[in-house]
Order: sequence, then structure tokens, then C-alpha cells
Amino acid sequence: MKAALEAIRAAAHQQLQQAGSLKELDDLRVKFLGKKGELTAILKKMGSLSAEERPVIGQLANQIRESVEGDLAARTQALRAALQAEKLRAETIDVTMPGTAPAPGHRHPLSLVLDEVKEIFLGMGFDVVQGPEVETDYYNFEALNLPKDHPARDTQDTFYISENILLRTQTSPVQIRTMEQRKPPIRIIAPGRVYRSDAVDATHSPIFHQIEGLVVDKGITMADLKGCLETIVKRLYGDEAVVRFRPHHFPFTEPSAEVDLQCFGCHGEGCRLCKGEGWIEILGCGMVHPKVLSICGIDPEEYSGFAFGIGLERLVMGRYNIDDMRLLYENDMRFLAQF
Ligand code: DAH
Repeated sequence: MKAALEAIRAAAHQQLQQAGSLKELDDLRVKFLGKKGELTAILKKMGSLSAEERPVIGQLANQIRESVEGDLAARTQALRAALQAEKLRAETIDVTMPGTAPAPGHRHPLSLVLDEVKEIFLGMGFDVVQGPEVETDYYNFEALNLPKDHPARDTQDTFYISENILLRTQTSPVQIRTMEQRKPPIRIIAPGRVYRSDAVDATHSPIFHQIEGLVVDKGITMADLKGCLETIVKRLYGDEAVVRFRPHHFPFTEPSAEVDLQCFGCHGEGCRLCKGEGWIEILGCGMVHPKVLSICGIDPEEYSGFAFGIGLERLVMGRYNIDDMRLLYENDMRFLAQF
């Protein structure tokens, strides 16, 4: 039995020296010292020893356990140190190396032009206000003089959340919300996202942006509307920019007009971008309908106003000679990096 115990000490010593990982060390601990290990196996046979032999062997067994535990601890420490040293070596960083500079981002062309438009209007004494993109049927249509059976609703089909809650098709509902909250004089613009169930092509997208404008005061006329919009267009496009006012119909203005910008692609000759027309429509406008003023509690006998809705994408495309609207949404860095 003595010999068997000494053999364990020698085998353990040798095998522990060779162990290359903490996992291996633990396996060896189980193998030699565990409940089903070699040392326990021998101790279980102590019952067959004589009364004199038992304490001697017992003592030896304890020595051997201590010796194996000592080897185990020493090897564990050595391995840990080696692993730590290796880790430190592998993770060395050269603090003198130049870093990788993060490429600075910049604003999207839609934001660039919108910021410019805001600046121009702020300079003319307008406030910038906001309204919800999820709107009620009342604000998006009804209060704008578009009752449920009005044919003009057909051109503004949208995404319905319920029968009376929808994604707004225009920023015009912000006119109503503003007139409910403020009394004249009112001078606001309301930029924001609008939605329509339109198919995507070079000039259409189911999500796009408008900038609504509203002025209500005593004695406001169509001349104020024309002057205001011409100023904006010339500030954005330069004094050479050519615009025309064309009679149109909107249920919430009377009279109404659309404003076209002479095509920047062909200068009026007709091309793919303007669909051969020579002109590109950039906004709708008109004198606020007396009915709409009344609905908002403003007396149309005392006050008048004008309103307009600008298509931001169209402005941006005109500004930078972009001939396909899809470029504005596709996040292609080759395109975006140019602004
Ligand atoms: N909301 C209209 C549209 O989306 C544009 C518009 C026309 C806005 C005339 C106005 C306006 O404020 O007076 O087609």
C-alpha cells in the first residue's frame, strides 16, 4: 500500500508538471484527489490493514494528499502567470499609433434646403410650427372643406389607421390646428412629412415632405401671396429663376393657384424631368377659404389670409439638378457625399 501511495505522488507530480491548461489541471485534481479518485480508492482499502499499520498509512496518505495539493497549487499559479503574460503580450497597444478618424457626417440635402427655407421665412417674421403625422380625418380633410364624399379626396388616398385616423396626406391640417390656437395676426410655416398611397417613380414617393405656410391678418390680398412666394423662390434659386402662377382648385382656398418653376433641366424646352412640359409644379396656394376661417372661429368679414403648400423634394431637386427623387431616399453614399 505504501508503494501504491508513493506511486500516486510520483505520477501526480509528473502529470501536473505537464498540464498545459487550467482545465487539464482540474481533471488531474479529480483523477488523483476526487471522491472517485486514486487516493480515495486506496483509502477505502484501509479497513483490511492491521491496527498498527493503519495510522502509519493514514499519515502517509495525508502527506501525499498535501504533496499533490501543493503541486497542484504551484502548477495552477505558474499556468495563470503564463496565461496572463501571454494576454498582456497579445494585447499590447501602441499608444503612439495614429487613430482612425471617424468620417464626419453631414446634413441630408432635404435638411439643407429645409433649413434654408426656414431661415428665409424666419427673416420675414414667420414662426415654425409642427403638427402630428398621424392625423384625424377632421383635420386632414373635413375642416379643410373636404367632406367625406368630396371627389378631391381621390387624389389623396392614404394609409388609414382606423376610419377616422390616418397618416396625413398634406401639412394643411396644421393650418387648422394653428388657427384654433392662435388669433390673427398669424404668420407660420409648418414643415413635415406627409403620406400618400402613391407608387414610387422619378417624381413620386409614398412618403415625402411639404412646407405649409399660413398668413392671416386684416387686409391680406393675393398680391401679398404672390410677393411672398416670389421672394422665396428668388432667394432660393437666384433672381433669374422664372415662376408662373396658374389657376387651380383647392377646396380650402378661393381663389387657388399652382406655382410652377421653369424646368432647370431644359429651361422650358421640355425634357424627361418636366415630362415635356418645360415647367415643374412646386407648390399649391390660394386665399384661405372663408368657410375654413369660420370653422376655426375667425371672422372672414374682418380677416383674410393666404396659404401655400410647398413640395420640399421638388425644391431640392430644382436646387441641385437632381432628376430622380428616389436618390433622396436610397442612402447611396456616392450620391449623398456630394452635398
Ligand atoms: N395641401 C395641398 C396639397 O397637398 C397643397 C396646398 C394647396 C396647400 C393650397 C395650401 C394651399 O396651403 O393653400 O396638394
